[in-house]
Amino acid sequence: MSLMEESSTTAHPPAKTVMRVAAISGSLRRASANTGLIRAAAEICRESIPGLHIDHVDISDLPLLNTDLEAADGAFPPAVEAFRDRVRSADCFLFASPEYNYSISGPLKNALDWASRPPNRWADRAAAILSASGGSGGNRSQYHIRQVGVALGIHFVVKPEVFTKAHQLPRKFDDDGNLIDPETKEQLRKLLLALQAFALKLQGKPAAADSAE
Ligand SMILES: Cc1cc2nc3c(=O)[nH]c(=O)nc-3n(C[C@H](O)[C@H](O)[C@H](O)COP(=O)(O)O)c2cc1C
Repeated sequence: MSLMEESSTTAHPPAKTVMRVAAISGSLRRASANTGLIRAAAEICRESIPGLHIDHVDISDLPLLNTDLEAADGAFPPAVEAFRDRVRSADCFLFASPEYNYSISGPLKNALDWASRPPNRWADRAAAILSASGGSGGNRSQYHIRQVGVALGIHFVVKPEVFTKAHQLPRKFDDDGNLIDPETKEQLRKLLLALQAFALKLQGKPAAADSAE
């Protein structure tokens, strides 16, 4: 089923523009809660935000950044080229990352750095941030992602802020990292609507019918 056909089967009127969201999880764990947030975001968009299409971009096969791996003609290793292409072709971004020692996860920073190599593939696009973390909910990591984003020319949605305490009871994720908490799903839906509205504004496109809240 094409994206437009899929959109037409939902209860909401289809948005004029379908924005493609490159969604990146900062955790490589099989049962990652952050990757679970991305799966939940994709489901929310399929069900109720037809103007957003979430593409999960896996960063687990990126080598550690080493500029010696760049060829003299500017070519990158194949996994890096493929990643950079997916970043370049996205309309906007969704980062879902744990906080590691008060900061960005290593895998996410590595991915941000690879796609920043000239020509920078991140610039002039909107992004939203999510985090599932320990006691902090990931607030410090989110602010560090914003700081790095300044260097990359990424424009972040400011509100709502969604900090998810992944290990607090009652359980928000099942054993496979799937989001099972309705309240977090609702926060996620509001953030996705804010991302859609901001991304459309940044591209100079009219607001989507399904983003009116
Ligand atoms: C090396 C390491 C450092 C961590 N540091 C923090 C931290 O500073 N703040 C916090 O809230 N959680 C911290 N945590 C907990 C993780 O953020 C938490 O377990 C999160 O759910 C992991 O994400 P994932 O389920 O997507 O893999 C740390 C975990 C690891 C492995």
